[in-house]
Amino acid sequence: MKYSRIIGTGSYLPEKVLTNKDLEKMVDTTDQWIRERTGIKQRHIAAEGETTCDLAEVASRRALEAASKSVEDIDLIVLATTTPDQVFPSTACLLQSRLGNHGAPAFDVQAVCTGFIYAMGVADNFIKAGSAKCALVVGAETFSRIINWEDRGTCVLFGDGAGAVVLEASDEPGVMSTHLHADGDYANLLHVPDGVSKGYDVVQANGAFVEMRGNEVFKMAVNTLGQIVDETLEKNGLDKSDIDWLIPHQANLRIINATARKLRMPMDHVVVTVAEHGNTSAASVPLAFDAAVREGKIKRGELLLMEAFGGGFTWGSVLVKY
Ligand code: UT7
Repeated sequence: MKYSRIIGTGSYLPEKVLTNKDLEKMVDTTDQWIRERTGIKQRHIAAEGETTCDLAEVASRRALEAASKSVEDIDLIVLATTTPDQVFPSTACLLQSRLGNHGAPAFDVQAVCTGFIYAMGVADNFIKAGSAKCALVVGAETFSRIINWEDRGTCVLFGDGAGAVVLEASDEPGVMSTHLHADGDYANLLHVPDGVSKGYDVVQANGAFVEMRGNEVFKMAVNTLGQIVDETLEKNGLDKSDIDWLIPHQANLRIINATARKLRMPMDHVVVTVAEHGNTSAASVPLAFDAAVREGKIKRGELLLMEAFGGGFTWGSVLVKY
């Protein structure tokens, strides 16, 4: 088996919606500013007690159903999240138990907004190496739990959600290539400065929220995503015009537009869902992907380019013959 193939997708957004108008009552912002600067209209927020695993479970069941696979068929679970339910066990193990799978390796991947791309890279390599035949790959986040709801520079951007795919070993393409990168020197531009080992004041939660130097992150994201697109095309000997669909990380419509321009990709071949759910970090690419598949936009045989950029900094892409 030379390839891993995507055989099913699923996603889930929590019920509660927080609109830009709602945010106007919480911080000094306007619906117009948020739409113009980010393209976001609303975001979904997990209910009290609703966790990352809860969101991941619904998305995973939908992906399994779409793939016509049962939980026993899964022999690898890779879950990307920055907002795990617990310090341990991993959210992947919690999900495994919920789904009723026993024995498959299950672990989390932490690459913030690039998490799903990293998880796809890991699962694809497991399958190519013959270590797995049928993998569940999930991106799930409750980012609302690490947001400072008094910081207008970040709170308007993020939301909660989950997306999943089932990957199966196949002689037919398939994931064509994955490209993963990181540069930890940029950690301070986008981070949660405290954590378990550094000391974390749970009562006051001081410093346990996302902090971002938005403008610098923006510029880096635009440049880096342009480079990853070029790297992916070059590695596969492809031309820009060969790509049928761009499925970008849904952080900011202006960043998405800039990457599409670089690819000379008309916007009606770019999957854009950021308006509906904001930046859901690791859930963003699989949420957008699932929406486009279920709307019937993406067809079997088409060439898809997924890309993301996030804290770390981390960035990467996945080229898929769907
Ligand atoms: O997923 C991981 C990667 N993350 C990202 O890709 C996010 C990257 N960054 C961005 O998307 C953008 O930088 C932001 C949307 C966060 C900000 O847009 P910007 O065009 O870079 O604005 P800015 O940070 O340069 O701020 C412009 C102005 C500032 O006011 P002054 O200093 O010009 O008076 C901000 O204080 O906008 C102000 N501002 C706001 N105004 C109204 C910042 N946030 C808000 C707000 N509402 N929510």
